[in-house]
Amino acid sequence: MRGMSAKLPSPLFPWLIFITLASLYFLSSFISFNTPSSSSTSQSLSIPHCDLSKGRWHFDPNRKPLYDDTCPFHRNAWNCIRNQRQNLTFINSWTWLPRRCDLPRIDPLRFLTKMRNRNVGFVGDSLNENFLVSFLCILRVADESAKKWKKKGAWRGAYFPKFNVTVGYHRAVLLSKYQWQPKQSEAGVGDAPQGIYRVDVDVPSDDWAKIAGFYDVLVFNTGHWWNFDKFPKEKPLVFYKAGQPIVPPPAMLDGLKVVLDNMIAYIEKEFPRDTLKFWRLQSPRHFYGGDWNQNGSCLFNKPLEENELELWFEPRNNGVNKEARQLNAVIEEALQGTDIQMLDLTHLSEFRADAHPAIWLGRKDAVAIWGQDCMHWCLPGVPDTWVDILSKLIHDNFE
Ligand SMILES: *[C@@H]1O[C@H](CO)[C@@H](O)[C@H](O)[C@H]1NC(C)=O
Ligand SMILES: *[C@@H]1O[C@H](CO)[C@@H](O)[C@H](O)[C@H]1NC(C)=O
Ligand SMILES: *[C@@H]1O[C@H](CO)[C@@H](O)[C@H](O)[C@H]1NC(C)=O
Repeated sequence: MRGMSAKLPSPLFPWLIFITLASLYFLSSFISFNTPSSSSTSQSLSIPHCDLSKGRWHFDPNRKPLYDDTCPFHRNAWNCIRNQRQNLTFINSWTWLPRRCDLPRIDPLRFLTKMRNRNVGFVGDSLNENFLVSFLCILRVADESAKKWKKKGAWRGAYFPKFNVTVGYHRAVLLSKYQWQPKQSEAGVGDAPQGIYRVDVDVPSDDWAKIAGFYDVLVFNTGHWWNFDKFPKEKPLVFYKAGQPIVPPPAMLDGLKVVLDNMIAYIEKEFPRDTLKFWRLQSPRHFYGGDWNQNGSCLFNKPLEENELELWFEPRNNGVNKEARQLNAVIEEALQGTDIQMLDLTHLSEFRADAHPAIWLGRKDAVAIWGQDCMHWCLPGVPDTWVDILSKLIHDNFE
């Protein structure tokens, strides 16, 4: 105290500087109090928070699909024009309008130009194949010389020579490796009468284990195989880690969690950081009046109303179509803190009970054998909107 007051009168100059700086600091902090708030106001006006997954379907009689039944990449059961699904023109006249943003329709030429020398991969189950077929048929509009492609463990895909772009699909329904093991070879594991499906939670299936580096964009999914129709109690899934059965044996949904954690860790470790990664959330089913094997049907002519969705899909209502939301909750939790972006198409697809192949499957006996298809989508159809959303996100990310 004493030393300070003694020094006070003599070096006046530093004090002047200090006071000047202090008042400048005060002034600038006063200004900067205003700037961020005013700029954030203008930001929230000019760049509104845009969530493509929330919105409504709008009837637009002028909307036409970008491709038809002659696309060479169709799968017969989803080719609803060829299979003469009733009212398909009407069904394909709806446009998804996100609440606070524009969703431009994909411009295949612009997209392929942007993607020149780059590749897009889908990894997952047949709903990702459904997505892929829509994508291939749309992109082909800009390059009719597109050729079928099937390499690197891919199930199917196409190469677009004009742009040197490959779009491929790797079938991996559980993502992890799994194999059938008849009873005798695994004495003591489970007490299933016939045998088990052994799932190695920490081993990706061969179909996609070695594709890191080839794709610039990847879209993962797993979903509707996680149920007791595919893996009944007589032939259950049994989960292995580091070559040993996990004890106590996880039930199916807990097994899914372990698989997701392990596969996401594998992706984060093995795939380059600059690979753009998406995880597609569940595609909802629309069985009405019973499940697929109980004459469940989806003979609808127009989308569901917003107020019908809770009844159809909310797990608390315990309907046959509840599992999409249940699985989404598990997947969303597993993706927290990763660099994999969620591609949330569930809500917009929930409306579209009218857009499945239903009984128009291109084969007379198909319905008798498998029931109606209220799970996959007609093409052209709803996955074309998924393509619009995916291509917008890819464009935004590569800006
Ligand atoms: C095609 O793209 C691949 C990358 O996917 C690149 O390695 C290759 O050089 C390209 N070919 C030509 C002819 O540009
Ligand atoms: C489904 O419909 C067929 C023909 O109408 C009928 O014979 C069968 O019992 C039904 N199955 C169920 C599970 O309701
Ligand atoms: C097509 O859908 C519209 C709207 O629901 C309906 O009025 C019409 O009867 C349907 N046509 C056929 C052939 O089902």
